[in-house]
Amino acid sequence: MKESGLTNFGNNDRSWQPETLALHGSITPLMGEPTAMPVVQSSAFAHASAETLEAIFAGREPGYVYSRIANPTVSAFESRMAVMEGGLSAIAVSSGMAAISSVVLALAGSGEEIVAGSSLFGGTYSLFRHTLNRYGIGVRFVNPKNPTEFGEAINDATRLVFVETIGNPKLDVPDIAAIAAVTRKHGVPLVVDSTVTTPVLIQPKRLGADVIVHSASKFINGHGNAIGGIIIDAGTFDWSSPRFPHLAPFHARVGQFALLAALRNRICRDLGCCLAPFHAFLLSMGLETLGVRMERHCSNAARLAAFLATHSKVVETGYPGLDTHPDHVLANRQFSGRFGAVVTLRLGAKKRCFDFINRLRLAKNLANLGDTRTLVIHPASTICRDLNEEERLAMGVTEDLVRLSVGIEDPADILGDIEQALGTL
Ligand SMILES: Cc1ncc(COP(=O)(O)O)c(C=O)c1O
Repeated sequence: MKESGLTNFGNNDRSWQPETLALHGSITPLMGEPTAMPVVQSSAFAHASAETLEAIFAGREPGYVYSRIANPTVSAFESRMAVMEGGLSAIAVSSGMAAISSVVLALAGSGEEIVAGSSLFGGTYSLFRHTLNRYGIGVRFVNPKNPTEFGEAINDATRLVFVETIGNPKLDVPDIAAIAAVTRKHGVPLVVDSTVTTPVLIQPKRLGADVIVHSASKFINGHGNAIGGIIIDAGTFDWSSPRFPHLAPFHARVGQFALLAALRNRICRDLGCCLAPFHAFLLSMGLETLGVRMERHCSNAARLAAFLATHSKVVETGYPGLDTHPDHVLANRQFSGRFGAVVTLRLGAKKRCFDFINRLRLAKNLANLGDTRTLVIHPASTICRDLNEEERLAMGVTEDLVRLSVGIEDPADILGDIEQALGTL
C-alpha cells in the first residue's frame, strides 16, 4: 500500500476524546481514498528488489513483508487503539489471552516472577496459576484492594505487575494510581487489563499504567463476531532497566519502542499469534461506535442494577455503580461516573440460577461479554469450572452467582425479561 493518508498514522489531534479518536484517530484518508481501511487479505507483500527486502528485514526501511508480522489492516487498528489510549504504539494479536500471554513472555522468563491482583478473568487466572508455572515463571497473587501487598510481593525477580480495571466477575475495583505509585517506586512495569472498561471509561496511562491490554473480542468489537486482542505500550517505562537485559539489544536499536519490537520481532512472530486482517477490519468497525455503545451499555446496566438491588428474589447485586458497592467512590472517580456493563446477582442456590437463566427470553446464555445483546452465564459451572472451590470463592464466584453483560437493547425490554424470569422462581 502506497504511503498516503491511509498509512499516515501520526497526524491526528491527540487532545480529542477517545470517542472522537475512535472515528478519526491516526488515519486520515486523502481525497478519493476509502474512509474504512480495506481488508488487505494478502499473506505476503512483494518488493522491487532483493536490496529493498534486505533493508526491510534489517529494519532500515519500513515496509510490509508477511502478515504474521504486520499487515496494513491490522496496523490501522493498532494505531487507532494506540491513540485512543494515549500510548506510544500498539500490537494487535489473535485474542485477549494472546495479548496477556505475549506481554508476560516478552518480559518474564524462567526463574522470574510476576505479581497479579487475585481478582481475574478465569482464563487469565489459569494462565498465571497453571501454565506459566510449567515454564518456570512464578506468580504471586495479592489482594488487588491493598496496594501495599503489591509492594511486599515485589522482589528482584519480579518482571511485571498485573491488574484488571474491574475484576471479572468479582467486580472489585483496584486503585490503579495507588498501585502505580508502588510499581514505579520499585521500577517494575504495571500492566492493566482494561477489557471491561475500554478507553471510553478509563485511559489507564493517565493513572500510571505502563502497558494496557484488551480483549478486543468484547466491547471493542461489540458485535460478537471476531476474537482479537491488543497490547498498547503507554511509553512511560524505561525498557533499558537492568531488570530486562534481554530487551537491551532492542533498546539499543529502537529506544522506547523496545518492548513493542521484542513483541513484534520475537514473541508474537515466534508464537504466531497474529490477528487476521478480516478480524482487524471487524474490530475497527466495532471501535467506531464504541463511545455510544458504552454510554448505552452503562446506562442500561445502572438501571438494571438499581432494579435488582431492591428485588425480593435477589440475595445480592454486584455493580460498582451502586452506592452500596464497597468500591463505589473509587470507581466513580476512576471511571468518570460510568461503571461498565457487567452486573452480577446471587439467587441463593445453583438450581435457582439455572431456572432463572433457562426462563430468560431476551438475554442469551453464552460465554462472552461486551456484545450488543444482553448475555447471561452461570460462572461456577462454566468459565470458572476449572478452579477449585477456594479459588472460586476468592474470585467471588459462588454457586448461586449469575453474571449479566448488559446489552444496548431498549432498557424496558431488558428489565421486562429479567423481571419475568425472576417472577417464575
Ligand atoms: C477481562 C478479560 N481479559 C481477557 C479475556 C480474554 O479474552 P479473549 O477471549 O479475547 O482471549 C477476557 C475474556 O473474557 C476477559 O474478560
